[in-house]
Amino acid sequence: MEPSNSVNYLSSTYGDAFADVYDDWYEQVTDVAGTVALISQLSEGLEVLELGVGTGRLALPIASRGIPTTGVDSSSEMLDRLHARDTSGLVEAHLANMASWLPAGPFKIIFCAYNTFFNLINAAEQDQCVQLVADRLAPDGLFVVEAFVPSNYSLLPTRGVESRHMANATVLNITIREKVSGLVRGQSVQLGKAGPILRPWRILIKTPDELDQIAARHGLKLVQRWQDWNQSAFTSTSDHHVSVYASDNS
Ligand SMILES: C[S@@+](CC[C@H](N)C(=O)[O-])C[C@H]1O[C@@H](n2cnc3c(N)ncnc32)[C@H](O)[C@@H]1O
Repeated sequence: MEPSNSVNYLSSTYGDAFADVYDDWYEQVTDVAGTVALISQLSEGLEVLELGVGTGRLALPIASRGIPTTGVDSSSEMLDRLHARDTSGLVEAHLANMASWLPAGPFKIIFCAYNTFFNLINAAEQDQCVQLVADRLAPDGLFVVEAFVPSNYSLLPTRGVESRHMANATVLNITIREKVSGLVRGQSVQLGKAGPILRPWRILIKTPDELDQIAARHGLKLVQRWQDWNQSAFTSTSDHHVSVYASDNS
């Protein structure tokens, strides 16, 4: 995979570092049932593409409904786990950096869930990805993004150390937020008998307004914003958003 904007941190680094624990630690981290229901409904049974498909936590249950589902991920370790779970070959999976390449489509729905868009850690990559999305959507297609709202999110990673108990593991998360770029650099340290296991991660956080601006630069307009996958109203205190974009020609 091609490098990202920091020395030794590649687009595959996050996925490769977390793949071995991802399903244990994050299976229920977001609303799987709600995501699957809303993406399926919006797709009307037509082609769906997930950006950063990971181990197939979301894509597999969508594909299980008979919806043609494709996924892109930059981590071969994540995709190995997807393939191991997907014994019937329901999800068409591609190893690629979503900022550089997406399958031709066209897709009725392209979605990027659980803050995965922030895994693109420089502004140029975020723009390139949305340009590719705009190019790959069907004329009536929709781009759906789930992310936290930085100003309201109490778990916003900024600077410091916090401990969490994950499945069978105590984990320290050490984070630093670079003031100018806004990049958050994190190190997850799993403590155990075998000694510490390090898992680096990085995110470039955007507000909902900033995401709207990126979308607008690539011909996409916001058509719906909810607080969650159950379509609850988005308010000034919402700590997450599910945003839906469509071509501004539609
Ligand atoms: C937080 S996980 C989410 C996985 C899955 N969408 C889910 O909700 O369970 C983020 C995923 O995005 C992938 N990823 C990170 N940067 C990427 C990039 N530039 N292109 C494609 N995939 C990327 C990671 O490898 C990882 O599998």
